[in-house]
Amino acid sequence: MAILLAGGCGYIGSHTAVELIQAGYEVVIADNLSNSSAKVIDRLFSITGVHIPFYEIDVCDRVGLEQVFQQHKIEAVIHFAALKSISESVELPVLYYRNNLDAVLSLIEVMNQFSCKRFVFSSSATVYGDATPPCVETMPTALPTNPYGRTKLMTEQILSDVALADKDFSVVLLRYFNPIGAHESGLIGEAPSGVPANLFPYLTQVAAGERAYLNIYGDDYPTVDGTGVRDYIHVCDLAAGHVYALDYAAQHTGVEIFNLGLGFGYSVRQVVAAFERVVGIPIPTRIAPRRAGDIAESFSNPAKAQQVLGWKAKRNMDDMCRDAWRWQKMNPHGYAD
Ligand code: NAD
Ligand code: UFG
Repeated sequence: MAILLAGGCGYIGSHTAVELIQAGYEVVIADNLSNSSAKVIDRLFSITGVHIPFYEIDVCDRVGLEQVFQQHKIEAVIHFAALKSISESVELPVLYYRNNLDAVLSLIEVMNQFSCKRFVFSSSATVYGDATPPCVETMPTALPTNPYGRTKLMTEQILSDVALADKDFSVVLLRYFNPIGAHESGLIGEAPSGVPANLFPYLTQVAAGERAYLNIYGDDYPTVDGTGVRDYIHVCDLAAGHVYALDYAAQHTGVEIFNLGLGFGYSVRQVVAAFERVVGIPIPTRIAPRRAGDIAESFSNPAKAQQVLGWKAKRNMDDMCRDAWRWQKMNPHGYAD
């Protein structure tokens, strides 16, 4: 029996593969490499000593997926495979709806063919909109401000309908807050192509001297110091949450939602200060206008994941800074080296 990681070569999927293997699971990866590298599979071997079966397929392609299910007895699917750039989704909405919605539909269709009934989905804090934090799973969702976010909410709805229609189906919706950091080996991490859109990869490139300064998008928010506040979570803690989610899905049917976060936020300035202290490199910053669509503050209430799953994040901001920097130093060009 194996767990299929759709999009498993990506940032979060690759870290989840490590956690699953270390927890004794057999893992199979399907990825079209649209935002990742096949080198991840070699790096995962270096970390775990396990050769993970890898299929370079688009998960929207049902025929390709069927072949994976024919080759392996898949007991559950963890679905990471999505396009995730907010700005690109505004420019190319059809690409995002096509990829992100077709992916979940074809996965469910093929799972049904093979009587596979367990699904864990990578959702996002973006479905809370600008709700006043801390965000709790019982809060009403808000229609996200961009097509990427809307595919997350739509996928939550699709999966909820599937579980409603099929009483044997088990769906766990994991609402990630802001994953950062990298595996402590420095062998896998976040490898954005082009100019990073997210804070941490940009920050580490400034520290490496590849970029002159960090733009701080807005210093007039109603927050502790005027800059945006987010609930940053170490990617390995986030990855571990998937192991707990799978165990939960094996014992329950229906839909359950869990926040994965630490339960408190850091402002951009606080992140920069923490990074400078831990890594010992000054980070030049400039105040830039607010970024369209950004909210002032977002952080989770992670109590449900702790109480129901028994999961809790173990790593702190210092660990996140240290591990993100190790990854950046060892892989200045991501997997391209
Ligand atoms: P990522 O881009 O690193 O990983 C996604 C992987 O899916 C990539 O390897 C990509 O090649 C693959 N992929 C995309 N479309 C595919 C398709 N049609 N068929 C096969 N493979 C496909 O992104 P990530 O940061 O690891 O995010 C994983 C998931 O978590 C995504 O669904 C993302 O939307 C969600 N998420 C991420 C964040 C974050 O901040 N990183 C926050 C909330 C939610
Ligand atoms: N920021 C800067 N400068 C930068 C980049 C970001 O000041 O160069 C600020 C942003 O304005 C925000 C904070 O840093 O206040 C975090 O921004 P990120 O882009 O790193 O993360 P977001 O919270 O905007 O979004 C991320 C993912 C989304 C996901 C969301 C919640 O990109 O896909 O977390 O999980 F929906």
